[in-house]
Amino acid sequence: MKYKTLKGLQDILPPDILIWQHIETISRDIFKIYGYQEIRLPILESTDIFIRSIGETSDIVEKEMYTFQDKGGRSITLRPEGTASFVRAYVEHHLYNNAVPQKYYYMGPMFRYERPQAYRYRQFYQIGAEAMGIEDPKLDAELISMLARILNGAGLENLNFEITSIGCKHCRPAYKNALKNFLQSKLNGFCGDCQRRFEINPLRILDCKVPDCIASRHGSPPVIDYLCEECKGHFDGLKHYLKMLRVPHTINPNLVRGLDYYTKTAFEVTSESLGSQKAVAAGGRYDGLVNEFGGPPAPGIGFAIGMERIVPLIKDSLKKSEYPDLFICPIGPEESEEALILAEQLRENGLWIEINYDKSSLKSQMRKAGRLGARNVIVLGEDELKKREVVVKDMMSGTEVKTSIDIQELIKAIKA
Ligand code: HAM
Repeated sequence: MKYKTLKGLQDILPPDILIWQHIETISRDIFKIYGYQEIRLPILESTDIFIRSIGETSDIVEKEMYTFQDKGGRSITLRPEGTASFVRAYVEHHLYNNAVPQKYYYMGPMFRYERPQAYRYRQFYQIGAEAMGIEDPKLDAELISMLARILNGAGLENLNFEITSIGCKHCRPAYKNALKNFLQSKLNGFCGDCQRRFEINPLRILDCKVPDCIASRHGSPPVIDYLCEECKGHFDGLKHYLKMLRVPHTINPNLVRGLDYYTKTAFEVTSESLGSQKAVAAGGRYDGLVNEFGGPPAPGIGFAIGMERIVPLIKDSLKKSEYPDLFICPIGPEESEEALILAEQLRENGLWIEINYDKSSLKSQMRKAGRLGARNVIVLGEDELKKREVVVKDMMSGTEVKTSIDIQELIKAIKA
């Protein structure tokens, strides 16, 4: 076979897809009770949207975007994340005029040209949520609590909720200074990218994955020590409300997000079962982004869950396959037509029905039913049609129940 998926991409096949659907259903149900509405955004956007929001010196923008020129010569990018597209839509459609808080969720593929490894893909799926218009840390706590409810509801256990505050434009200059003072004398130990970022955006040095850079920045001052009064109060509020809502969490002053748009609250949910790619979800506040995109000053906060990282953590008990409720084995051409009709009538009642389409022998039909894992089988022959009676055979127990060919009677026998 010559053709294969591209490196870092994967096909999601049954029965694994059942887990994906399970997570999506749980998420939708939980979003509903918190008032989040679905929003579907394009996968392609203008490249500037991501440069402007994620940041020119971020790894995503510098190294990981799938960017190309379309036939009209415009620079287009496959979205590497959902927040930038969401904020573009929020401003474009004046969603800020709706009653606050405005709450939205999305599900879909994102694209980053990263080095593929376990749990790190070039196309990956996120379930994201964004809540707009409220600055109060009660909203932050509620959003993190909702995230916990989704992850727990999906069957995940032993997760760490790590939180921090990364300040705002008022506290950042003092922090940048402190960081630069710390890094200055060690600069030779950093990679070329970090040396360049030192002048433009030293905060990005904290996010570099190069082992020498990780070692060289050890002991750097945490931003949490440089928060202004407002950010400090906001962070205290968040901790208080999380405690009130009984969301177990730890404070991680060294938590760094790879995207530039964050202000104040930042968080990551990690699992030790995943090795180096341990973040199963992450998010934070971005109070300046709407304004940056030409909208009114409107605060925002959100998160995104990485599907490929939570699917492997779901308990095996959920990995059950689904099987047909009934397989119909017709014996001749007349019975075959009857089977076609009968199947449609039973499906109208929500049952999964399979039939045999060709002229194969009864023995081979029974084998097909077995391979599909059909729970019940009926044989439709001349005699059955004449008497309008069939035998429903339970394939697991071998029990047989005789019943008339009447939809309600058949359903009763199949469900029994
Ligand atoms: P992020 O931290 O870049 O944040 O991604 C969120 C999650 O997506 C990660 O925690 C991880 O589970 C998953 N993820 C990221 N990259 C990959 C990859 N290459 N392969 C598999 N999974 C991956 C954001 O994207 C922000 N937009 C979240 C947000 C929403 N902040 C505010 N609102």
